[in-house]
Amino acid sequence: MSAKITILDVRKAKEEGRKLVMVTAYDYPFGLLADQAGVDIVLVGDSLGMVVMGLEGTVEVTMENMIHHTRAVVRGCKHPLVVGDMPFMSYNTSVRDAIINAGRLMKEGGCDVVKLEGGVDFAPTIQAIVKAGIPVMGHIGLTPQTAGSLGGFKMQGRDAAAAMQIIEDAKALQNAGVFSIILEAVPAPLGKLVAEAVRVPVIGIGAGPDVDGQVLVTHDMVGLFEKFIPKFVKQYANIRAVILEALTGYKKEVQNSAFPGPEHSFKMPEEALAQLKKMIGS
Ligand code: KIV
Repeated sequence: MSAKITILDVRKAKEEGRKLVMVTAYDYPFGLLADQAGVDIVLVGDSLGMVVMGLEGTVEVTMENMIHHTRAVVRGCKHPLVVGDMPFMSYNTSVRDAIINAGRLMKEGGCDVVKLEGGVDFAPTIQAIVKAGIPVMGHIGLTPQTAGSLGGFKMQGRDAAAAMQIIEDAKALQNAGVFSIILEAVPAPLGKLVAEAVRVPVIGIGAGPDVDGQVLVTHDMVGLFEKFIPKFVKQYANIRAVILEALTGYKKEVQNSAFPGPEHSFKMPEEALAQLKKMIGS
């Protein structure tokens, strides 16, 4: 197994023109699968609110939720860099809160780095967290925690002014010290321009092909979450159908006594059985 990916490897990937591969995971089995697939970065995203906890959005996700799930993912990830996502209001209230909560996610959750949403306005917060010794990944474009203020889960950077603001956000984050940036739901040409505007890797989700890497929510790409499928998601499998078939098959076989068969049952020595029957008088 290759060595643990570090933020230096992530930075180097851009310099060497190697695309970064990133997925989300929320528990040990998916962390392990991502590790075995050889992805570079695993994000314990607050998207867990929707795809694992069944919430409408990410706003209700707590620090405790994130720490709990991050700990599980970390146990499966020996090779990928693990990113802990800072939930809504864990970094928005003050710089002090941001540093404390970033520290908790790392110390109690065990992640390697943290991610938080926001552009220019959050540059001072990011700078302070980085100064405290915690590497930060930025997240701009569509920022799901504040999607309400952005008019919903919509493509961002439609007109020149809005697009320019996203480029400014990327530059401000770079100057604040992020080691990479997630860019979500922007037109593909803008994705390219943002990636060209900064030295740190820009990892796209719905930002077109001309960025430095891609990230997808694993539950979306394997067909485990069907409530809402964004345009930028490609489904590589339909795991939901496979699991549903297994569960209905199990139900049928329990009901008609086809399961468990002899191969799934423990044997008892003949002699012990005969003795037992004698003891209970049957
Ligand atoms: O929470 C998450 O899964 C994310 C991705 C959409 C990048 O932030």
